[in-house]
Amino acid sequence: MTAVADAPRQAPTATGLPPLRLPMPDAGFADCAPPCRRPPLPPPVGVEADPDALGWYRWMLGHHVAVCVWRLLCDHLPEAPANPAAGEVVADLYDAYSALLLYSGSCSPQTYATVIRARMKARHPAFSGTWARDYEQVSELLGRFRPFAGERVKRALKTNRLVHMTVAKRLVPQGKSLLRESGMDPTRTVDTDRDRFDEFFGVDRAEVCRDEFADQLADRVRLVLDDLAARPDPVRYDNADVSRLQAELPDLLDRLVSFTTRKVAP
Ligand code: HEM
Repeated sequence: MTAVADAPRQAPTATGLPPLRLPMPDAGFADCAPPCRRPPLPPPVGVEADPDALGWYRWMLGHHVAVCVWRLLCDHLPEAPANPAAGEVVADLYDAYSALLLYSGSCSPQTYATVIRARMKARHPAFSGTWARDYEQVSELLGRFRPFAGERVKRALKTNRLVHMTVAKRLVPQGKSLLRESGMDPTRTVDTDRDRFDEFFGVDRAEVCRDEFADQLADRVRLVLDDLAARPDPVRYDNADVSRLQAELPDLLDRLVSFTTRKVAP
C-alpha cells in the first residue's frame, strides 16, 4: 500500500481557474441571445519551479476539460448508432478523455500521494471518480447505445480502460483507490457524493448556453496546450497505444471545440 500523508503537503491550492459552469448532465443548454462571451483566462502563476503546484494545476485543469468532454459525450452518444459520423466523434471524444487522463496524472507518484490524493482524502476518505455525475450519465448512455455504436467506439473504450489503469498503476503502484481503501460500497453513490465531487473540482451547476460552454472549453484547452508547449510531459509509457494518445493530445484537444455544436452531419 502506498504511504499517503494524512495531512496534505503544503503546496499552493490556488490554480487561477474560475469555477466551470455547467448544466446538470440531464439538462439541456439554455437559450441565450446575444451570445455570452467571457474574458479569457489568465495563465497559471507559480507552477514553473514547483512540481507539486504544477501537478495540482494539471489535476484540476485536466479534470475541468475531462468534465466538458463527458458533457459532449452525453450530447453525441445517442446519435452514434444511427449516424456513423457521430460515432467517429464519440471515438474522438473518448480518445481525448484518454489523453486527458495522461495529462491530469502526469505528476510524480510522490506529488500524487502527498498533495493530490491527500487533498482528496482530506475532503472525504472515500473520494472517488465514480461520484462524477457527468460520467455517470455517460455510463448510463453507453449501456444503451454502445452495442450499436461501431468498432472504433469499442476500440476507443478499450484503450480508455487501459490508459486509466496505466495511470492508476503508475501513481498508486501497490495501492487501491480511496473508495476501495475506505471499504465503502462503490455502488452506493448519493447526491451528497456527486455534490462533493463538483465542489472539489470547482464545477458550478447553472443555466449555461452553448456559447458559454464552448468558450469555457476553448479557454481551458488553450491553457493545457500552452502548459504543454512550455513544459512537455516527461512521463514515458511502454505501451504503444498509451504513448500514441499522449502524443496526439494537442490534435485531439484542438478538435474538441468543433464538437460543441449539437448535430453532426451524417
Ligand atoms: C487521471 C485522472 C483520473 C480521472 C479523470 C479519473 C476518473 C475516474 C472516473 C470518472 C471513474 C468512474 C468511472 C470508471 O470506473 O471509469 C473512476 C474510477 C476509478 N478510478 Fe479513476 N480517474 C483518474 C485517475 C485515477 C488514479 C490515479 C487512480 C489510482 C488509484 C484511479 C483509480 C480508479 C479506480 C480503481 C476506479 C474504480 C472506482 C473506485 O475504486 O474509486 N483513477 N476514475
